[in-house]
Amino acid sequence: MKYQLLLPMLAFTASAWAQPRLANFTASPGEFQLSAATTITAVGELRPLADYLSPHLGCTSSENYSADGGVILEIDQKSDLPSEGYRLSVMPDHISITGRDYGGVFNGVQELFRRLPAEVYSMKGLSQTVTLPCGEVTDAPKFPYRGFMLDVCRTWSDKTRVKRYIDLLAYHNLNKLHLHLTDDEGWRIEIKSHPELTEIGGFRGGDSPIAAVYGKLNEKYGGYYTQEDMREIIAYAAARNIEIIPEIDLPGHSRAIGSVIREVRCPYVTDTVSTIGYDDRSAWCVAREENYVLLEEIMKEICALFPSKYVHVGGDEVRVGQWNRCLDCRALMQRKGIPDAHALQDVFQHRLNKILAANGKQPAVWNEAAERGSISKDNLVYGWHNLQACHNVIEKGYHTVMMTKEFFYIDMHQGKHEQGHDWAGIIDTKRVFEFNFAENGFSEEDVKKFVGFEAPFWSETYVSNNPEKDDYLDYMCFPRLCALARLGWNGDGEAWESYYKELREQHYDRLSAMQVHFRLFPPMVSYENELLTVTTDDNSDIYYLKDGREHRYTKPISTTEPHRYLFYTRYGSGISGEAADDSYYRRIYPAVTLTSSMEFTERFPTSNVEKYKGLTATTRGCRKGDWLLFTFDGGVSCREILVKTGYPQIIKCIFNSGYAEVSYDGTNFEKAGELTNGMITLYPEKKVRAIRVVSTSDGNGTSAVNIQPLKIKPRL
Ligand code: ACM
Ligand code: ZN
Repeated sequence: MKYQLLLPMLAFTASAWAQPRLANFTASPGEFQLSAATTITAVGELRPLADYLSPHLGCTSSENYSADGGVILEIDQKSDLPSEGYRLSVMPDHISITGRDYGGVFNGVQELFRRLPAEVYSMKGLSQTVTLPCGEVTDAPKFPYRGFMLDVCRTWSDKTRVKRYIDLLAYHNLNKLHLHLTDDEGWRIEIKSHPELTEIGGFRGGDSPIAAVYGKLNEKYGGYYTQEDMREIIAYAAARNIEIIPEIDLPGHSRAIGSVIREVRCPYVTDTVSTIGYDDRSAWCVAREENYVLLEEIMKEICALFPSKYVHVGGDEVRVGQWNRCLDCRALMQRKGIPDAHALQDVFQHRLNKILAANGKQPAVWNEAAERGSISKDNLVYGWHNLQACHNVIEKGYHTVMMTKEFFYIDMHQGKHEQGHDWAGIIDTKRVFEFNFAENGFSEEDVKKFVGFEAPFWSETYVSNNPEKDDYLDYMCFPRLCALARLGWNGDGEAWESYYKELREQHYDRLSAMQVHFRLFPPMVSYENELLTVTTDDNSDIYYLKDGREHRYTKPISTTEPHRYLFYTRYGSGISGEAADDSYYRRIYPAVTLTSSMEFTERFPTSNVEKYKGLTATTRGCRKGDWLLFTFDGGVSCREILVKTGYPQIIKCIFNSGYAEVSYDGTNFEKAGELTNGMITLYPEKKVRAIRVVSTSDGNGTSAVNIQPLKIKPRL
């Protein structure tokens, strides 16, 4: 059967050609029939692009321009198109995609994909003939840098996952993949002159000197890219118009290398253990000359391996107190008249930049490294910390990547009750999309200094039970990355409503064909006259959880117990955030006293927990038999109590194993269940007088136990 794109010419300009700016579109008479029988023609450097395109369409490709048309890919270096711009012409006898460079032709191919049925993204080839109306569109990105950062240190992402993500980025015309390759928790790129960096530093837990992620203390796990792997990734990305930007995070965030090559860090004896259970020192010693020899050895290999113009060398969150404590660093400051330890970071950076220059590279850094304006203007600055930090580096004249955390940190949660971090706020797709330079105080002149946008996914505190699975990463990345890509391509100022319509009506189908487990917006829930009504605006199917079982919602639910229903929706391979009547989340705050076999710090006293203000912290990690006792003043009647040790969202400073007991009379205790990840939910049927939590393990790998206020749901 023939597949017709059911789009009359008018709709064609409005939706099928929606991505480009419409001014660049011209329609012409006729149509082109595209099918798996069409031939793709490309020569020379465009051959990898033909190889990329063929399996998407199910077409064969040729190196001979034949008279019978087909899809013709061409680079025209004399073209008036800007870098990465394209001209896509659909004519009755052929389609031509032209760019001034490879990236331009690649972007034109993506334009063609968006005009085809979503099945093109499933890589099975076209199942039907598609009729494309004739016309021509030219377009080019507004910003040359449209990036995603993946933290492969904290949670390891292997080559397969990285390649999958490269494909997903490429479908969105994103053109940079910034790989965060080293950090406190791992060294993930082979350095042949120092194989120990990955052989030891590529793994966490077990006998590794690098602590495991919380709750995974006994397991050794991880991985790293060999240089051969990385060459494969770089080539795979290049064929998809994506440049890999490597990051070696220096001089802070360096516990991993410091655990493998101990001399790298300042030579003082630590008297503190960080809250994550290992040596507090995380920075390179600036005064140690051998460190620069080591950096030369490392950078020589990194610069030879990665074709990118920039090598990202970190510079974020350096805890300069370490340098103040180091006799060698202090002597250096005195000798050279360096006013303070912050200025010492600039000294380190100058040396590093020289090494990069000697290897033909320019440095990229986090905004802290450029804060004082002392490093040269050939540094590309990544403005992450906040808008003020971005203003600061722009004023100092640096070319900057906009990735301020309040809009672009996609490890943040997308709704109050959703997974992810909360320290930079709730960031959903709409928030990313609605970022606006002018509204955030940037002038047109300022905007010229921004090379583009990036969204990072930090993975240390993957707030998921299955951090290594793609589902969670997909949920966090899409469609937020789609919105970022659009900002980078068209610039800010587009209306959310029309973009959201495009997501719902076109792009969710594409994401589904890509098999991305993307996030949908949560449904709307209302409760009136004992009727729970749930609606969506995206044509998704509504489900709910009740008593732990999933049900399909088909009509309003008549109930006097709205607090028992939790709703969400599905569309294609997407799933929404949760939604419920407010009563589902309502809590009560009965008077409670906390006592323990452990002492509590003055900074985080038990009154935090007793007054439901925040967490308390013990002065040491727990031992077998340690206990916590919550005693209710007069008892509490409720339907649910969540008892949680650890940080609000991170599995950290917990009772690594243990159990909870409940007392209904204040004297006798009954076992209520085992802790999972330091927590347990209790469903008491009677009035509770006290809850006792008992540790069954010696130590939790950290220097404290954190206890959070109980979360108690009323009976209603
Ligand atoms: C950062 O989030 N430390 C760049
Ligand atoms: Zn030092």
